[in-house]
Amino acid sequence: MPHPSSTLEIPEPQDVPRHIAIIMDGNGRWARQRHLPRFAGHKRGLNAVRVTVKACAERGVGFLTLFAFSSENWRRPPDEVALLMQLFLEALENEVQKLHRNGIRFKLIGERAAFDPRLRSLIAEGEALTAGNTGLTLTIAANYGGRWDILKALSRLAAAKPEALAKDGIGEEELSPYLSTSYAPEPDLFIRTGGERRASNFLLWQMAYTELYFTDTLWPNFDAAALEAAFAAYRTRERRFGRTTEQLGEAGTASAPVAPRA
Ligand code: IPE
Ligand code: IPE
Ligand code: MG
Repeated sequence: MPHPSSTLEIPEPQDVPRHIAIIMDGNGRWARQRHLPRFAGHKRGLNAVRVTVKACAERGVGFLTLFAFSSENWRRPPDEVALLMQLFLEALENEVQKLHRNGIRFKLIGERAAFDPRLRSLIAEGEALTAGNTGLTLTIAANYGGRWDILKALSRLAAAKPEALAKDGIGEEELSPYLSTSYAPEPDLFIRTGGERRASNFLLWQMAYTELYFTDTLWPNFDAAALEAAFAAYRTRERRFGRTTEQLGEAGTASAPVAPRA
């Protein structure tokens, strides 16, 4: 069954977010503070990934999506890009078995054609190995861009159902099965570490009603306590999905269908 859309129906409220999406930012600054090369920050960032995956699995989060490399990160110096790709490759080699043993399903979103063949096959093997796991779904967004995702979905829809685009206006429910995250509910909680307050072309479509949480903590310093602080902030949010506060208290309105626009 497809996951409900926050703009077509009102999601059930949840204490623990079902889906958390994180922009892991601040590795370079973490390294600079220590007079280390930027790459040292990326390496330490991988440690924060391990800690966060474990904490999310323990807390019963269903989906964790981590932004590891954006479609714009190719603009970085070639040596940094090469080191990031190498780190990603090593992480796949070393961690996938561990993910599998812990019942975690691994997925990758992003344009993988740009990766070298060895990396592409490790990704495909990791996805195949863990496809049947029912614990946390860990998605790595790599060479991912929110605009790429929407455009890709449109072209896939056009190829599969040309008539859907030919008619007057396409519906969300026609497009959403072709988005890269179609297997996941929309994120409930977005976290960006490192102090910047921007989306940087992450899940643009999917974050229509996601709660946004920003922290100055640099990604390598992010840990279970920092995640707990984000959860605490999330629990204080009133998720209205377009309604008024008064409506939230009214019985029977919590999952009422959204009335069609006039
Ligand atoms: C995030 O950390 C990791 C990637 C984008 C790969 P940065 O490398 O962007 O760290 P800052 O923003 O320079 O501190
Ligand atoms: C966003 O971080 C992408 C990732 C964390 C992978 P950046 O550090 O690349 O974002 P900008 O350039 O500051 O917006
Ligand atoms: Mg950054």
